[in-house]
Amino acid sequence: MQSIELNDGSRVPALGLGTWKSAPGEVGAAVREAIRQGYRHIDCAPIYGNEREVGAAVADAIAAGEVTRDELWLTSKLWCDRHAKKDVVPALRETLSDLGVDRIDLFLVHWPVALKRGKQMPKSPKDFIPFEKLPLEETWKGMEDAVDAGLARCIGVSNVSAKKLRALHSVARVKPAMNQVELHPYLAQGDLRAACRELGVAVTAYSPLGSADRPDVLRAADEPRLLDDPVVAAVAEEADATPAQVLIAWSLAHGNVVIPKSVNAGRLAQNLAAADVALSAEQLARVDALDLARRYVTGEFWTPPGSPYTQANLWDE
Ligand code: A2P
Repeated sequence: MQSIELNDGSRVPALGLGTWKSAPGEVGAAVREAIRQGYRHIDCAPIYGNEREVGAAVADAIAAGEVTRDELWLTSKLWCDRHAKKDVVPALRETLSDLGVDRIDLFLVHWPVALKRGKQMPKSPKDFIPFEKLPLEETWKGMEDAVDAGLARCIGVSNVSAKKLRALHSVARVKPAMNQVELHPYLAQGDLRAACRELGVAVTAYSPLGSADRPDVLRAADEPRLLDDPVVAAVAEEADATPAQVLIAWSLAHGNVVIPKSVNAGRLAQNLAAADVALSAEQLARVDALDLARRYVTGEFWTPPGSPYTQANLWDE
């Protein structure tokens, strides 16, 4: 398995398993099967509502002698209602307890959006805390506390623009190791990837297959289906691979960590085998040319009328 070196010298397996949208009741079996097949990196978050089941599957795999804790890379995230510095370590301790581990490999600030304590999702504009009142830099001090306490090996961010990342990087004592963002051929994130490279921040590509299983409220009626793209299909045919494998191989070839989600044993195996799919420079260039700057996960749940967060100030575009 290829790995990517982070700014502290740690190496993260470049292909991991996504668990967003993996339902309780099925995520445990998926994680268990993934580890059996050779996955060594699981991407989690408390907001996915399934960390306890993920933790039980990890414990089961370790008990069965299939993997050791040290061989597994576990990532989790800080939810938006825990952005106050003092709330970060307690939130991480809850995740550690749910996952059944003493320490996490990578802990990310899930969104550059702050909510009042106890609000999982905003129901009214009053549920938000404006970014200026509780900026990322403040939350970051709590993230650094998590490293100091030995509870997180590395820390990073998610859904963060180049502008916010630069501002954070310039003041951080422990520099962010990772920015996890939506990234696939329709949203290739060229500028953001360049900024991350310059700052020594690795990039994880989420929704690499286009996340077609998103709930309807998070979908646009006219959205193009990445897995059905004809260019991806043609490259897949040439490479004797599947469209999903082309999408994963494309991301790996660009040096990203990539975390496709599946709860199906056959598709888990297919996705893992994408690490062995080699695309030529010409094939990569054809897939590169698909960029539409098209976001599937627009974060519009953060930007309803009256919210201090807007599409403009969320993405800085
Ligand atoms: P399933 O879990 O039933 O396999 P993303 O990683 O972009 O969020 O995409 C996840 C979606 O893609 C899920 O609907 C998942 O379904 C599906 N998926 C995962 N792997 C494959 C694959 N190899 N081929 C087709 N669809 C896939």
